[in-house]
Amino acid sequence: MGKTIQEIEENALGDLAKASGLAEVEALSTRYLGRKGELTTFLRNISKMDIDERPAAGKNANLLKVKLDGAFKAAMDRLSDADGDGAFIDVTLPGRPVTRGTLHPVTQVTQEISDVFLRLGFDIVEGPEVETEYYNFEALNIPKYHPARDMQDTFYVSDSILLRTHTSPNQPRVMERVEPPVRMIAPGKVYRCDSDLTHTPMFHQVEGLMVDKNISFGDLKGTLTTFIHEIFDADTSLRFRPSFFPFTEPSAEVDIRCVMCKGKGCRICSKTGWLEVLGAGMVHPAVFENVGYDTDVYTGFAFGMGIERIAMLKYGIDDLRKFFENDMRFLGQF
Ligand code: DAH
Repeated sequence: MGKTIQEIEENALGDLAKASGLAEVEALSTRYLGRKGELTTFLRNISKMDIDERPAAGKNANLLKVKLDGAFKAAMDRLSDADGDGAFIDVTLPGRPVTRGTLHPVTQVTQEISDVFLRLGFDIVEGPEVETEYYNFEALNIPKYHPARDMQDTFYVSDSILLRTHTSPNQPRVMERVEPPVRMIAPGKVYRCDSDLTHTPMFHQVEGLMVDKNISFGDLKGTLTTFIHEIFDADTSLRFRPSFFPFTEPSAEVDIRCVMCKGKGCRICSKTGWLEVLGAGMVHPAVFENVGYDTDVYTGFAFGMGIERIAMLKYGIDDLRKFFENDMRFLGQF
């Protein structure tokens, strides 16, 4: 006489408790439930039992079959792993490290610049990168013969549509929408048909504009000085050099004391001790007239700067192209 149902159950569950790998559990499953397995054989032999013992034996054997099947499957699920080699999953092993991304340095510097101007009460606006000739040039008093309008320098989409060459078109766009006072900055991508060591066809600028009654060049100097002191060291000296832009009069370029040599003269500042960081000026009356502002009532200042340039000076990066190569070893440092 073979084993009883109770014996098969005790043996099977005892063996399963001792099994340590997937292969062992699989072997047990075959041993008890396989075609020649102990429980299968028991079931097959029920027909040889006394007729009045058969119903209870059949019922119990089938219940055990379901029970063992479930127990073996659960054990196999627990022990099988993704690569299916039957190795036990050690839940105490450390997890795979998740690499954390960082913001691109251009994004970081854009946010820093924006934070400074937000604190000074400026709004942040955005305008289209695909721009009309009108907003990019005409409204900004840039005459037809200006070299910036040349096909060599500007990506034209069609005769009158282009990729903006600077963020300045945000000036007339904003002034057409709102009445003074205006205090805004407009960061974004700009495009120029230019590519070498220090120029990339796409780069970033921040435009700034403030318009109200009684805005003077003193406000321009104060605002930009505060800004430079926030972005660079608080003791960074500035100088305002007379310059020319069609949309400002008077115009200036702003230099800061070289952040590398502190003015002694080095390779970065071409031995001058100064670094040019932005263009600025008092909004030209022609620009106000184009947007319908009363030039007898309002004055304003505007400025524009390259974000990559600020980032390069802040972090001591000497090659502009590094920003656009997507080399994680470079980008991960910021
Ligand atoms: N748009 C000029 C450029 O792309 C920069 C600039 C200069 C912007 C003077 C201004 C400004 O708003 O007043 O080089």
